[in-house]
Amino acid sequence: MLENYKVITVTHKRINLKDIGNFVVKPGPESSLKEQLEDMKTVFGFNELMYVATCNRVMYFFHSDEQLDKNFTARFFNYVNPDLSAHWKENVEEVTFTYQGHYALKHLFDVAASIDSLVIGERQILGQLREAYEQCREWGLTGDNIRLVMNQAVIAAKSVYSNTQIGDKSVSVVSLAIQKLLNANVAKDARILVVGAGQTNQLMAKFLAKHQFNKVAVFNRTIAKAEQVAGLVEGDAHSLDHLYSYQEGFDCMVVCTAVKDPIITKGLYQNLLNGDTDRKVLIDLAIPHNVEAGVLDEFPVQYIEIEGLRSLAQDNLTARENEVVNAQAILENYLEEFPILYKQRQLELAMRRVPTEIKAVKSKAINEVFAKEVGLLDEQTKELIERMMAYMEKKCIGIPMKAARETFL
Ligand SMILES: NC(=O)c1ccc[n+]([C@@H]2O[C@H](COP(=O)([O-])OP(=O)(O)OC[C@H]3O[C@@H](n4cnc5c(N)ncnc54)[C@H](OP(=O)(O)O)[C@@H]3O)[C@@H](O)[C@H]2O)c1
Repeated sequence: MLENYKVITVTHKRINLKDIGNFVVKPGPESSLKEQLEDMKTVFGFNELMYVATCNRVMYFFHSDEQLDKNFTARFFNYVNPDLSAHWKENVEEVTFTYQGHYALKHLFDVAASIDSLVIGERQILGQLREAYEQCREWGLTGDNIRLVMNQAVIAAKSVYSNTQIGDKSVSVVSLAIQKLLNANVAKDARILVVGAGQTNQLMAKFLAKHQFNKVAVFNRTIAKAEQVAGLVEGDAHSLDHLYSYQEGFDCMVVCTAVKDPIITKGLYQNLLNGDTDRKVLIDLAIPHNVEAGVLDEFPVQYIEIEGLRSLAQDNLTARENEVVNAQAILENYLEEFPILYKQRQLELAMRRVPTEIKAVKSKAINEVFAKEVGLLDEQTKELIERMMAYMEKKCIGIPMKAARETFL
């Protein structure tokens, strides 16, 4: 029954990300995640269960005839987290979404197609969903009902990703910065100075490596972090002080530190140029900017700065949001199709025993009911009867399936 599909979920829409942890299953030293989910399935009498936990959501997708109401949700989360604080116990209804039947399916499809995501169009969620399903399937927690709906959700989500522009434009400042760098036709062996080794430049280094830039020097106050970031792109690590005496030249500079005053001053920039007069690409991702304004006035540079990238990211996010309506229309088609697929599968399951039963009837007719008469026949007639019965058997198997399809679908 479609009504037996149910969802209990806590997401970024109603709770701070840091608080989602209160509603996830926490494996302890005594029992693994698999064991805890197996217990949950037994305790609540779920036929099937899929568990999905990402940094933005925790979702319990299950198949059960249990009624989803306020009491059930409270009982459920008391079980999930016996240490749930009084505050969360009181507010569990306010922070939880529960869905059943069509709405449970719709929610799963929305998640798969990333229209329920914190950042709409982040297709990473589809991979996370598939991994979670695969894991629960391997653990024997899911069965035919969840398999069917997951198949359809994946097909629907793929159709959204390929027939809309929901995930096309980047909304990450760092990836937009890299796109600008690529558009500036910077050679793969360009000398790139990375100044700062915080979270932003760590991501930057990963992108530089992905795009095969191979002459990167990383400068940072804490050398250990410079080494770590340089390691991501097979570059050299230097202390920030070394920047003031660095004479190897450069073609491009990526600056991003939490220093409040510009650290790339005119004087430092001139030293770093070491007589070079070519135009350089300067990426400044810091707020406030790390590059002194005078550098832009006095030297030929292509300046890529964070505010411009942020506004581009915002425009791209708006473009993604505008695609939601198209995504919903696609998902609706796949949702409408699902009850038919579901019935078809139920029929297949019900009809699975038909061939065996028909075979048994045939065998009984020949070997028991008409055994005496058949025994009196000559070999040629016996063979003819066998062939006729085999023909009948083959034809009969398809008849109930065809009739059921015509009647119910
Ligand atoms: N995180 C984001 O989402 C994001 C996105 C875009 C831009 N930004 C901007 O990027 C800048 C850095 O962000 P982040 O997330 O990468 O920061 P982070 O992870 O905290 O790293 C801070 C970086 O600044 C360096 N630093 C801090 N104080 C310094 C000082 N007094 N002298 C020299 N170096 C110093 C740190 O060096 P040590 O390793 O030695 O501490 C480290 O390399 C900020 O301006 C932020 O607004 C952040």
